[in-house]
Amino acid sequence: SQNIYILGIESSCDDTAASVIYNGRILSNVVASQKIHEEFGGVVPELASRAHQQNIVPVVHQALKKANITKEQLNAIAFTRGPGLMGSLLVGTSFAKSLAFGLNIPLIDVNHMQGHILAHFIDEEGFNKPPFPFIAMTISGGHTQIVKVDNYFEMTVIGETIDDAVGEAFDKSGKILGLGYPAGPEIDKRAKLGNPKAYKFTKPSVDGLNFSFSGFKTAVLYFIQREVKANPDFITENLNDICASIQYTIIGILIDKLKLASKQTSIKHIAIGGGVSANSGIRQALKDGEQKFGWTTYVPKFEFTTDNAAMIAIVGYLKYLEGDFAEQDIVASARLKI
Ligand code: KG4
Ligand code: ZN
Repeated sequence: SQNIYILGIESSCDDTAASVIYNGRILSNVVASQKIHEEFGGVVPELASRAHQQNIVPVVHQALKKANITKEQLNAIAFTRGPGLMGSLLVGTSFAKSLAFGLNIPLIDVNHMQGHILAHFIDEEGFNKPPFPFIAMTISGGHTQIVKVDNYFEMTVIGETIDDAVGEAFDKSGKILGLGYPAGPEIDKRAKLGNPKAYKFTKPSVDGLNFSFSGFKTAVLYFIQREVKANPDFITENLNDICASIQYTIIGILIDKLKLASKQTSIKHIAIGGGVSANSGIRQALKDGEQKFGWTTYVPKFEFTTDNAAMIAIVGYLKYLEGDFAEQDIVASARLKI
C-alpha cells in the first residue's frame, strides 16, 4: 500500500495557507488570514503579497508540525498556480518550487477553482463525496461559477459571473449599509431576524447560466439613497428587513441558475463551495431543493469552503496518483482557466 504525504500551499488572494494530506486524509490545515485589508474594505494586492512573504514560512512550518512529520517525509509539493492575484501567486509558486527543488521531490501545479470543487473528495467523517457527473457551484468573494464535473480533471465551466462575484454583492451591499468588511456573515445573521419580502429588488436578467451582480449593487445603492432622503433613520430602523431582502434576492438568483443548470444537464447532484456557502439561507434553499426538485446536495466542511490549502493538497494527491507533475520552469497564471 502507498503512504503518500503531500504538502499543499495556497496564496492566491489574501489567505496564506498550508496543509498536509496523508493519502486522502487531512493531517493539518493552517490558514493565516490577513486582517490588514479590513480597514480598506477589500483586498489590497500590494499588501497581500507582502503579507504572504511574511507568513509563508511560519505557516508551512506549522502545517508540518501539526501533521507531526518532517519535510523529508513529504512525497510532493502542490501549489496554487492560479487564478488569483499575480503578486500573491508568485510568493506561493516560488516557495513551492524552491522547496520541491531542495527536497528533490515532485512539484504539482493546482488550479484554485478545481481545488474548490475537489475539496469534496477530502476524506472526512460525516461528509459524502458527490458521484460523477455532478454540478459544482463555487461562490465566494472572488468567484461565482457553475461547473459540470464529469471526472476529477474533466470539468467544464457552464456559467460564471460577467462582472462582480456573489460575495461582492453581499460585501458591497453591506458597505452601503455601513456594515464592516466582509459583510456577508453579518447580513446572514441579521437576515434571520428580518422579513425577506419587506423590500423587492429586481433580479438581473442574464442569459443562460451566467451571472451579473454589479447592477444589483447599484439597485441597492439607489434604493437606500432614496429611502434615507425620506427618512434619515431608515437604515437603522429597518436593518434586519433590508438584510433579509438583500439575501433573499441573491439566493433567488443563485437557485434560479442552479435549477436551469440541473434542467439543462439532467444532473441532480449539486455540490457547492467557496466562502458564501457558509450562508444559512443558501444552505436552507439547497435543502428545500432536495424536497422540491429531487436534488442531492453537498456542502463541504466549513474550513474546506473558504480559501484553504487542504483543497490544494487533495488535488495534489489526485494528480500524484496519476503521475501528473509540473516542471521547474512553470509560472503562475493570474487568469488560469479550468
Ligand atoms: O472563500 P472566501 O473566504 O474568500 C474568497 O473570496 O475567496 O469568501 C469570502 C466571501 C466574502 O465575500 C464574505 O462576505 C462571504 O464570503 N461570506 C458570506 C458568509 N460568510 C462569508 N456571505 C454570505 N453569508 C455568509 N454567512
Ligand atoms: Zn477561492
